[in-house]
Amino acid sequence: MRANTISLFLLAALLLLPSCSGRKVSTVGSDPSVEARVEKLLSQMTLAEKIGQMNQISAGGAVSDYAEALRKGQIGSVLNEVDPVKINEFQRICVEESRLGIPLLVARDVIHGFHTVFPIPIGLAATFDTQLVEEGARVAAVEATAQGVRWTFSPMLDIARDPRWGRIAEGSGEDTWLDSRMAEAMVYGYQGRVSDSTSMAACIKHFVGYGAAEGGRDYNSTFLTERQLRNIYLPPFEAAVKAGAHTLMTSFNDNDGVPSTGNSFVLKDVLRDEWGFDGLVVTDWNSMGEMVSHGFGSDRKDVAAKAVGAGVDMDMMTFGFISHLEELVSSGAVKRSAIDNAVRNILRIKILLGLFEHPYVDVEAARRVQYAPEHLDAARRSAEESAILLKNDGVLPLNASGVRRILVTGPLADAPHDQLGTWVFDGEKSHTVTPLAALRERFPGAVDFVPGLAYSRQQRERFDDVVAAARRADVILAFVGEEAILSGEAHCLSDLNLIGSQSALLEALHSTGKPVVVTVMAGRPLTVERDLPNCDAMLYAFHPGTMGGPALSNLIFGDAVPSGKTPITFLRTVGQVPMYYNHNMTGRPYRGEKLLPYIELEAGQTSLGNTSYYLDSGASPLFPFGYGLSYTTFEYSDIRLGRDSYGVSDSVEVSFTLANTGRYAGTEVVQVYVRDLVGSVTRPVKELKHFERVSLEPGERRSLSVSIPVSDLAFYGLDGVKKVEPGEFLLWVAGDSASGNPLSFKVR
Ligand code: BGC
Repeated sequence: MRANTISLFLLAALLLLPSCSGRKVSTVGSDPSVEARVEKLLSQMTLAEKIGQMNQISAGGAVSDYAEALRKGQIGSVLNEVDPVKINEFQRICVEESRLGIPLLVARDVIHGFHTVFPIPIGLAATFDTQLVEEGARVAAVEATAQGVRWTFSPMLDIARDPRWGRIAEGSGEDTWLDSRMAEAMVYGYQGRVSDSTSMAACIKHFVGYGAAEGGRDYNSTFLTERQLRNIYLPPFEAAVKAGAHTLMTSFNDNDGVPSTGNSFVLKDVLRDEWGFDGLVVTDWNSMGEMVSHGFGSDRKDVAAKAVGAGVDMDMMTFGFISHLEELVSSGAVKRSAIDNAVRNILRIKILLGLFEHPYVDVEAARRVQYAPEHLDAARRSAEESAILLKNDGVLPLNASGVRRILVTGPLADAPHDQLGTWVFDGEKSHTVTPLAALRERFPGAVDFVPGLAYSRQQRERFDDVVAAARRADVILAFVGEEAILSGEAHCLSDLNLIGSQSALLEALHSTGKPVVVTVMAGRPLTVERDLPNCDAMLYAFHPGTMGGPALSNLIFGDAVPSGKTPITFLRTVGQVPMYYNHNMTGRPYRGEKLLPYIELEAGQTSLGNTSYYLDSGASPLFPFGYGLSYTTFEYSDIRLGRDSYGVSDSVEVSFTLANTGRYAGTEVVQVYVRDLVGSVTRPVKELKHFERVSLEPGERRSLSVSIPVSDLAFYGLDGVKKVEPGEFLLWVAGDSASGNPLSFKVR
């Protein structure tokens, strides 16, 4: 079982630690020798040099543009420079020509791979495979650090329940538990389990609540209560901090009127005092300056004081610290001790990354590691595992030897840039393998390519050319969805149906009577309900990255078996937003009342009903959280609890048998959900508390057991204290959040 393999891997890593010369990642700030170095350096610094460390700038220009400032120690970090030759020169100026020789921290948005691009994060979350996600982040770190990038602005840990929000592509979806496990995996992957020259500091972002933007419009205000923050939005950040994340980024939003960059409750009380974080806190791009636009400060000087006061260490691109902090310190508006603390946090990370010892990179070696075969292999496996099979009328997998003519169609079939997804600065389309390229290589001479639509937004009334080609084909492989530009930062949508004439294209294809296999590539869960009848099978691939083509070809022809599960609820229509699986129970839950057009709309009929649903789309989503088909089938049986009553320091033991009842070897993502029936506040109807991937051969049955610490059932109740509230609970073991029969147990 995968979980056991991981434990063995962890154990081995821990046993190896003492013999490794590197540093374990999760000890930020706790190493006296590091602290001594920090203090020594700090004691030699002038106030101006300290403030310089707190300044981060975007360095896209020539080295000479920044040389003077680097020499004077006015820049602590740069982002957006990845040329190793230039980075070496930056470092040389800092190390050899600045008074104290403090190296630079070079940052980049390495969000889902550097050159080798992995599926977008929402796709990675769909793998439910923490080991593979860690491997992907490691690949990204190996490639990026080889070029001198030692800090990535990833992972994004924003819980999102609104697919209109374009940045839903960048996170792990709607669930706190899944997001927390992905957070740990990425932190371990980027930073390495042991710190060495391939360690890249992770930056957990955006702190906090950014994904709850009102209306799904980016940068919009949020109104999260402290209880929602603590129960839903903060735990992934806490998990990442515990995993040793070196840095954290504040978010653009204001929550209940307080912009995050000036929010001392989250940045000091929670992050520093409760969690003991002693990494580096950076603003988002000009988020300090934007506190003036928010109306939270009168000018740049005012917001600089507010940000330092709230606990920010580094200013990304507002230039507020470098311009005003000296003056603010002289006037007494900002305490010297606040500056010293910020600089400690910055120097500590530079020391932990080994930048003082190894500021330079080997330019030749850097070239060699990019797109290494094992990196491409990890990217392909990730793309295979991230695809979710939403529908299959028995057409998949296709039999490669039985297919003579294949029609490949749709705007995403051969869109190398777009299949990479959002936040790709370094992955090149020339290295990207599209589905069309992979299929042509696999079936030389057998593939017809008629795109139908050149791009997703295109409007077309007739598809005669595609239909004619479809009639000649044995099977139609359609690749639809949205281009990279339609999701990501500030790229929100208010309509989530397939854009342009894509649905009409699928309808035209279906009308030929030939089997239609649809793959959707998108940055979010689109509302595909109206398209399902027009396809015999649908694979949801998000944006699958560099190796998307071979991965999809493998899945379609059965060399890989789908195992991805929805990391977010798939809606029927955008009007259902927000609909997520772990909602609280209403006093009047839906009981299956009739929907339009079946309800009677007779004159004089009362408009009063009494349950919670939409007349036109009911109370259920199109696909629930955790859902995904395989080419095989799995059956759960003999689900048993070890006992029916537990103490708060016990673990709930649940055993069950999982059987592969189909004809293919496959992997099931086993999920365990729990419901706390009565609380001091209303509780979610279900919450994911465990998942693991289990691979079984056809006909194989395996007895499995899972242990859930009762402490994992703790939450912030009416008194605002995190604890387990004794009482009755329900527990499900199932393949998605809407299946299975609950067992009940008590906590004493
Ligand atoms: C984004 C961050 C990103 C930063 C630096 C901002 O616009 O919100 O997520 O890391 O830019 O590029």
